[in-house]
Amino acid sequence: MSENQTTDAQGLSGEIPAEGFPPPPEFAAQANVGADVYERAAADRVGFWEEAARRLDWTQEWDQALDWSNPPFAKWFVGGKLNVAVNCVDRHVEAGHGDQVAYHWVGEPGDTRTITYAQLKDQVCQAANALVELGVQTGDRVAIYLPMIPEAVVSMLACARIGAVHMVVFGGFSPDALASRITDADAHVVITADGGYRRGAPSGLKPNVDEALGKTDGVRNVVVVKRTGQDVDWTEGRDIWWDDLVGRQSTEHEAESFDAEHPLYIMYTSGTTAKPKGVLHTSGGYLTQVSYTHWASFDIKPDTDVFWTAADVGWVTGHSYIVYGPLSNRTTSVMYEGTPDTPHQGRWWEIIAEYGVTVLYTAPTTIRTFMKWGEDVPAKFDLSSLRLLGSVGEPINPEAWLWYHKNIGGGRCPVVDTWWQTETGAHMVNPLPGVTTLKPGAAQSPFPGIGVKVVDEEGNPIEPGATGYLVLTEPWPSMLRTIWGDDERYKDTYWSRYGQGVYFAGDGAKLDEDGDIWLLGRVDDVMNVSGHRISTTEVESALVSHPAVAEAAVVGATDPTTGQGIVAFVILRGNAEDSGEELVKGLRQHVRKEIGPIASPRQIMVVQELPKTRSGKIMRRLLRDVAENRELGDDTTLTDSAVMDQNSAKLPTSQD
Ligand code: WTA
Repeated sequence: MSENQTTDAQGLSGEIPAEGFPPPPEFAAQANVGADVYERAAADRVGFWEEAARRLDWTQEWDQALDWSNPPFAKWFVGGKLNVAVNCVDRHVEAGHGDQVAYHWVGEPGDTRTITYAQLKDQVCQAANALVELGVQTGDRVAIYLPMIPEAVVSMLACARIGAVHMVVFGGFSPDALASRITDADAHVVITADGGYRRGAPSGLKPNVDEALGKTDGVRNVVVVKRTGQDVDWTEGRDIWWDDLVGRQSTEHEAESFDAEHPLYIMYTSGTTAKPKGVLHTSGGYLTQVSYTHWASFDIKPDTDVFWTAADVGWVTGHSYIVYGPLSNRTTSVMYEGTPDTPHQGRWWEIIAEYGVTVLYTAPTTIRTFMKWGEDVPAKFDLSSLRLLGSVGEPINPEAWLWYHKNIGGGRCPVVDTWWQTETGAHMVNPLPGVTTLKPGAAQSPFPGIGVKVVDEEGNPIEPGATGYLVLTEPWPSMLRTIWGDDERYKDTYWSRYGQGVYFAGDGAKLDEDGDIWLLGRVDDVMNVSGHRISTTEVESALVSHPAVAEAAVVGATDPTTGQGIVAFVILRGNAEDSGEELVKGLRQHVRKEIGPIASPRQIMVVQELPKTRSGKIMRRLLRDVAENRELGDDTTLTDSAVMDQNSAKLPTSQD
């Protein structure tokens, strides 16, 4: 069999109807966008985005929608002016929706807060005044290192309101990581908390900031939200409690408008080198695409939907689809502080039932964790409010898609698999729920107004049925504008491989016979075995379609004969009866059957846990090290270093 075989053939044909999953007629009938959107966008791409931009309030109209005269440096809505925070908050209050809930916030210990748009406006104005009092000026960078509490959103919007550039660092990052980001962004103010709740216990954040500030200069003030009540060290003159500073401010703040290209935020993301890249997003184009995609991909109805992006606000998914997308669309959102299994494995489903969540957006890795826990957990809760499901962050294997569709979506909710990146700012490749006939496991189609191609090594478009690299062929409104302070690296990383104006995403993709796009994971995760290109994802997908396997991670380990050999790490389902040699043989046989002999793993190791980054991505580099018997690499971003300890202790002895 060829490596280009599509994943939908992987033993799941019984569960995938021949006609795929067409939009349920009642869903299609009420959908925000219909099939005509593709034609409109194709007929006038830039005009289509101008129309999307008009969904926002501008205090000054742009003169030029797109300036691409100096690629790869794009400018969108040139000459236009707006205030991002006003678009997210004030305009809804002014339109009479001040009493609508912006966030139902749920703390891990069970405490809750309900924040209306009017309350959010007051808090953002107070925080904006507080930043001004601290001397923060337009264009200054402000570091935000907070747990998943409403003050994170308030802080981001306060920055946007005064034209300061926020730089949110995920609360799970180490003091070193925080320090290097503060230094690179040259931030002078840090907003943090004493701590946050994670897995049933308070975990400190302020001590990390104190440690980080020993490794970077220039921070004048640390604003500290009281969340856990932990004891904290205090540096007089530098540290100040949020409640003292923000609490005494006026709830009135007159917002200025900023240029469409005014910087909105920096988000660091890891690249191939040790130094993280500061991805820079700007105001008008970013908000336009984030807002429009949120509305179209998730079919958002501001009056009735309860939307939940179950991600951390410290990642781009949180920025775009917890904060800017939902608020710009006047959505009511759920925001949850903690982990899915605290205090019990049904916590998410309990929250959905309690708040009547209608749209849930999460990552495949979490879905597979839920699969591991078993379908009887969600079955105990009333999930009938759900009408749409989303997926993001990695390719969703068909088995997880089907499980999600059936056990969470009750078989009635479209599953929208969204491909995008920190760099793209917003959705780029995904089906539209009222239009597309869904194929489990595929992100399928470029979003309207987005130029996407799959090309070979030389940059030539590939034929249906073949595998290649995903590239973006046209500038898009929410594209990163540069890497903070490093225009050259911006050009080299993304725009140098296929010539001027072509963005190299770093993802492999294949086109099926219908021309639909299947993302295959990062190209550095593509293995080359005896000259055959095999995606780690494809083998993982085959493994998890075996009834005994809950989760699988596959890496290509150097092999003297074949170039690379496939090494698989698998977590078994709780009910798997066998975990010995017979099972491993059976799994290998299963992969041979599903994909072909070339994909048969050289080695299969049964493990208890997989090492994951804080954002839930499997750390293949570490697994490769284990597979190749090397010393383990830098694991500072592991979710729980104990996991890797356990793995490194276990793996070498659990080979078959
Ligand atoms: C991967 C997260 C397949 C991809 C929004 C991309 C996906 C990287 C999908 C960006 C998807 C994200 N299908 N792969 N639906 N979504 N990816 O910057 O490899 O954290 O390049 O942004 O995640 O990860 P990032």
